[in-house]
Amino acid sequence: MKFFIDTANLDQIREASDLGILDGVTTNPSLMAKEGITGTDRVLKHYVDICQLVGEGDVSAEVIATDFEGMVREGEELAALHPNIVVKVPMIREGVKALKYFSDKGIRTNCTLVFSAGQALVAAKAGASYVSPFIGRLDDISTDGVELIAQIRDIYDNYGFETEILAASVRHPMHIIQCAEIGADVMTGPLSAILALLRHPLTDSGLAQFLADHKKARENA
Ligand code: E4P
Repeated sequence: MKFFIDTANLDQIREASDLGILDGVTTNPSLMAKEGITGTDRVLKHYVDICQLVGEGDVSAEVIATDFEGMVREGEELAALHPNIVVKVPMIREGVKALKYFSDKGIRTNCTLVFSAGQALVAAKAGASYVSPFIGRLDDISTDGVELIAQIRDIYDNYGFETEILAASVRHPMHIIQCAEIGADVMTGPLSAILALLRHPLTDSGLAQFLADHKKARENA
């Protein structure tokens, strides 16, 4: 399972990257705004900075336009920034056309704002490289987000679609574990959810005991 971090914050990307287990980054217009990145030039430069931090990993950069021509224009500009850019396109009618256009041109895409199996099926048929079901936002409205990942996994496996399932809107470590059990190809979440996977109280108490025993043995030697 690939681990992406869902942020536009360079410090958090660096911290996750330093762990050595980061495979990529996803951003969206809200995350860029949260970092105060505004204006086309600054936004484009920020994407390049992220790509340079991540090295080999994919970086999803979202189009703002909602019409086909605008998405194509913005997507081509984003894709030209760096080979690791994946153009993020919303699951709307014009977006589906844009996904197909980009796919035909060899430009990789991430179909975002996916909340149903039907949307995921259409994204795969349009040739999306990644599909992003937002599991946390589904949970927020009392719908099982993880169950959607399982449904999409079955559908894609039935037909051999190569679109990668990118479990998005991950909120906590159990989301990651459940998605891994189902076989999601990728998860994207906050640094806190990734770091939470590492922690266990028995690890902490066990390590404290090992160190205490080692110290005692040295003192008695
Ligand atoms: C995915 O690519 C989105 O950026 C993201 O996962 C949305 O997460 P949120 O629901 O926590 O905003």
